[in-house]
Amino acid sequence: MTLKGQDILDGAQFTREELERIMDIADEFRARLQRTPSLDLLNGYVLATLFFEPSTRTRLSFETAMHRLGGRVVGFSSAESTSVAKGETLEDTVRTVDGYADVIVIRHPQVGSAKRAAEVAEHPVINGGDGAGQHPTQALLDLYTIRAERGRVDGLTIALCGDLKFGRTVHSGVWVYRHYDCRLILVSPEPLRMPADIVADLRAQGVRVEETTDLEAALAEADVLYMTRIQKERFADPAEYERLKGSYILTREMIERVNPDVTVMHPLPRVDEIATDVDSLPNAAYFRQARNGVYVRMALLALVLGRIGEGVWV
Ligand code: NCD
Repeated sequence: MTLKGQDILDGAQFTREELERIMDIADEFRARLQRTPSLDLLNGYVLATLFFEPSTRTRLSFETAMHRLGGRVVGFSSAESTSVAKGETLEDTVRTVDGYADVIVIRHPQVGSAKRAAEVAEHPVINGGDGAGQHPTQALLDLYTIRAERGRVDGLTIALCGDLKFGRTVHSGVWVYRHYDCRLILVSPEPLRMPADIVADLRAQGVRVEETTDLEAALAEADVLYMTRIQKERFADPAEYERLKGSYILTREMIERVNPDVTVMHPLPRVDEIATDVDSLPNAAYFRQARNGVYVRMALLALVLGRIGEGVWV
């Protein structure tokens, strides 16, 4: 297996073997960073980060990952300061940056934008979120976090709660979990259900998927509860957002009463869907999850740049 030169566009693109390899390499990087602040595996390489949408964790953890591997970063975190403001197309911006950098991470509000970028770029393109589409690197760090927190992924019941219609992290996540023997419980208000075609595809592949509006019922069954934010920026009608915001609020009292053993995850940012009194419980894995993004993105960068082949290490 090699990911050298490959684009990372979609949670569905990985085989189980690839997932395991990425997780193992991320583990190795985590261990190495305990001994030394940085490595020189990507010395001389340049990452470009093209962020047309707000981001804290995705952009900064990619930058941190590149720096800790000894590489360098160029990029922008808002399109207003770039020639996009003059009317430049996505394709022209990407073609230009492709001439500067060895690997590109892009976040953009349009579904399919990362794929468009990959079509014109020679270098690997990594999707850091395309609108309400996909967010594959988040799915990888979520998988890594489940493995780290629970010691395994096979056999677990994973509840995904919140905005399953517009949430790109869960759209990628389900394609990753399908490789494991998991039971998925999808918890959302009726208008924010997981797109029906995704649910149908999962079932056709033999994945056990249940849908409910009842958070407490799902919490009672879950090993992992993955909360998500209602994606305000994706709503065409602001009144609809106002109606649906605050649909689910996980509290410490609920966890202690219903399922004190559950692992609570969230891609962040959180609005109000996890009460802050949950943060001090050992169940709250979301800040550890954010940190894991660095190790997983280190693994991905090293793999797509071909710096880890069969048995090749620093
Ligand atoms: C998510 C995203 O951008 O899709 N954030 C992230 O990358 N950690 C989730 C969100 O914005 O709700």
